[in-house]
Amino acid sequence: MTDEPVLDRDHERLILLLVGAVGAGKGTQAKLLSSELGLVHLASGNLFREALAAGTPLGESAREYMEAGELVPDELTIAMFMDELAKPAAKAGAILDGFPRTVGQARALDRTLAENGERIRRVLYIDVPKEALIRRVAGRWICPTCGTTYHEDTNPPRASGTCDRDGTSLRQRDDDRPEVVRARLDKQVPPMLEVLSHYEREGIVDRIDGTQPIDAVTDDILSHAGVPAAS
Ligand code: AP5
Ligand code: MG
Repeated sequence: MTDEPVLDRDHERLILLLVGAVGAGKGTQAKLLSSELGLVHLASGNLFREALAAGTPLGESAREYMEAGELVPDELTIAMFMDELAKPAAKAGAILDGFPRTVGQARALDRTLAENGERIRRVLYIDVPKEALIRRVAGRWICPTCGTTYHEDTNPPRASGTCDRDGTSLRQRDDDRPEVVRARLDKQVPPMLEVLSHYEREGIVDRIDGTQPIDAVTDDILSHAGVPAAS
């Protein structure tokens, strides 16, 4: 890590945005793309969960919204995310997962990038029907150590209940209770569609069929994003 300026006019960062409803596969794909492309994975939901676990004021402020399945207010979310995007880890670029989620967040992001001669390269909308989303979230298990996501039917770990990578016991998320999932869908899909419209006006959105197997979704994203893999 160095202290060099992150926003370098001569080397535009590669910034890809993954958009999708709860359980669409944003986190799964962002993690795979991050290692494939050598870019940092920035997920606003993960940042809030880390802040919550650490008991920071930001985490405490976000808690009531997350527990109710609501979006955390823009004034908290934008500042948190911009700080991450400006860190050296994002020097080469980033896979954005779950931010921006409102038009206000999208405008703030566009403005910050434009000030540095940058822009979002592509927006990949991972489209999955609502019934499938609910099944996915109900069967999701996550490694609290490395963040790898599994599904008990479609993407199980080799040994039940244990992470393939580091052997940690898998957990379910507090906000994956059925009533919170319904609230997340009801309250968060409309602003997500507005964000898509915002970027559709720029002609940079591709719809990805998120019902395909995980590897096929990754291949589709890579071909639409038009970026070569790192290796
Ligand atoms: P966040 O953590 O971002 O939650 P989310 O958007 O609801 O999305 P998920 O993480 O639940 O789903 P995912 O798309 O990542 O799916 P995954 O890959 O895990 O946000 C949490 C909360 O934080 C929000 O509710 C809000 O309160 C707050 N927040 C976050 N960002 C915010 C923002 N910008 N502004 C305001 N508030 C914000 O996959 C799901 C399951 O499906 C897994 O089990 C996986 O194995 C499986 N699966 C994945 N792909 C496939 C496939 N192709 N086929 C079969 N199964 C698959
Ligand atoms: Mg996620």
